[in-house]
Amino acid sequence: MCGIVGYIGGKKAAPILLDGLAKLEYRGYDSAGIAVRNGEEKPVIIKAEGKLKVLSEKTADGDSVEGFCGIGHTRWATHGEPSKINAHPHHTDDDNVVGVHNGIIENYKELQEKLLRHDYKFYSETDTEVVIKLIDYYYKKYEMGPIDALAKTMVRVRGSYALVVMFADYPDEIYVARKDSPMILGLGEGENYIASDVPAILKYTRKVQYIGNLEMGRVSADGITFFDLNGDEVEKPVAEIDWDTEAAEKGGYEHFMMKEIHEQPRVVEDTIRSFIIGEEGSYQVNLTESGFTEEEIKKCTGIHIVACGSAYHVGMTSQYVFEDFAKIPVRVELASEFRYRKPLLDKDALVIIISQSGETADSLAALREAKDRGVKTLAIVNVVGSSIAREADHVCYTLAGPEIAVATTKAYSTQLIVNYLVALKFAEVRGYLDATQINDYIVDMLKIPNKIQKVIDDKERLQWFAAKYANAKDVFFIGRGIDYATCLEGSLKMKEISYVHSEAYAAGELKHGTISLIEDGVLVIGVATQKALYEKMISNMVEVQSRGAYLMGLTTYGSYDLEDTVNFTVYVPKTDEHFATSVAIIPLQLLGYYLAVARGLDVDKPRNLAKSVTVE
Ligand code: M6R
Repeated sequence: MCGIVGYIGGKKAAPILLDGLAKLEYRGYDSAGIAVRNGEEKPVIIKAEGKLKVLSEKTADGDSVEGFCGIGHTRWATHGEPSKINAHPHHTDDDNVVGVHNGIIENYKELQEKLLRHDYKFYSETDTEVVIKLIDYYYKKYEMGPIDALAKTMVRVRGSYALVVMFADYPDEIYVARKDSPMILGLGEGENYIASDVPAILKYTRKVQYIGNLEMGRVSADGITFFDLNGDEVEKPVAEIDWDTEAAEKGGYEHFMMKEIHEQPRVVEDTIRSFIIGEEGSYQVNLTESGFTEEEIKKCTGIHIVACGSAYHVGMTSQYVFEDFAKIPVRVELASEFRYRKPLLDKDALVIIISQSGETADSLAALREAKDRGVKTLAIVNVVGSSIAREADHVCYTLAGPEIAVATTKAYSTQLIVNYLVALKFAEVRGYLDATQINDYIVDMLKIPNKIQKVIDDKERLQWFAAKYANAKDVFFIGRGIDYATCLEGSLKMKEISYVHSEAYAAGELKHGTISLIEDGVLVIGVATQKALYEKMISNMVEVQSRGAYLMGLTTYGSYDLEDTVNFTVYVPKTDEHFATSVAIIPLQLLGYYLAVARGLDVDKPRNLAKSVTVE
């Protein structure tokens, strides 16, 4: 939540800050602001409520603001409503300290009271204003410079933060501090960058350094120096980002979401190929790069898959796949529940954390909980160098590339793939599948990208159907087994971007309450890809139809003749049933997208949401 950028160097800072914020707007978009310094002069601070374009218009895309050093912020409100006064940057009355913040300061009330006793005044409702004034307080009290003031502040505050701060006495430097909120530093020639996430700086540099937890940094045009809480310097390696620049642009599509839906065949194939070796006839799963060993798999007593949102839905599908392939018990849990429910974890269990961003606060906390209990952790993550990737015992990277639309599509699809492959590896090592079977499943998986492409090529029918249902009030998704997991994601895709109320139900569960909501004209989408459950699904669909529902059926070509039963049928190419979600989800992504477009909504930035949820 919230996007942060910083720039210092030889170029005009404001246009670079606004450009970076535009790439981070998916992290928050209720208000934005920049602070730019021109040498010794006081910083110019400009803020605006609403999306970034309001701020851009106010500053002629940054052109009207002079200065070579600055910081910027796009906000997702936590403390205080979206407004200009609550927008960042925040500053002291004398402009001694100006800063932006991503995260939550839990004890800000108590710190504010302390500062009020020292005559500080507060204008906003934010925790950020408190932390900026606390830095100022320590800076003036001890007179030991910015790093000391930041360290003293970090010791006093509870919560999470990525802080970027400018001090009046240090016009050629920007200071940063971090705990549990993402931040990267980008290295240029005679210039340096600060950002919450890679897309903001990709256009300018690929060389980055990751600031660790409870660390600080001093950023000047010539270099970056890192410090620990004692004020001692810390060496940091330089990493190279291999995402291409175009991946973070819309590339001719109207929305990032549509572009990302179209990227799925390629990223799914890239991800499969990065975890297999051999050739057709002798394909094998290769997890060597993750460091996950066969010994660990052999002694594993059970798996806990922990994640949030769509990543949790990936876990729901994976549960069926793991249990069927590898005969190992799997429990899927929401990270926000797992972290507080004192889970009983066997010492030889495995906790799998799934996360696109690698920064989701609840998933990160769940990972730490598992590690504290001495349980092995495997992260399935998209963002290289993210907190979850760095802290997990083993990491498998999805190769989705940067995902900008708030509604995940391609990251979700690649997460499914990694889970299938890990499940196959478990099955092989534990003796439930032989080499030929593994090869055959991989051959089947390698056909998924083409099947996804076929569904995308056929998208006009869904566009037509979405236009017809643009005024729907309630939509129900029903399915059994893996199809139920697919429904959970299909339903989330629809509601998060089109604001149409939708719910996913295990089809057999409807008659235990929910069926009373079915009335004339309510849209029910039934997913039926699993042979053994097909007849039961048909019965459930007929039950809702006879109560007035309008039925859309989603099934595979050649398997079932749904047309006699439902009002509108969507066929997708058949795949091995374990992998059915990978193909069946595509029409549901498209349906959610087209419904949102038909309702005239901002598809990539749905209200109240942010791409990466770094607060609890
Ligand atoms: O970055 P993560 O994968 O950890 O994010 C988890 C959820 O916030 C995310 O999947 C969310 O549900 C998506 N925006 C849904 O499209």
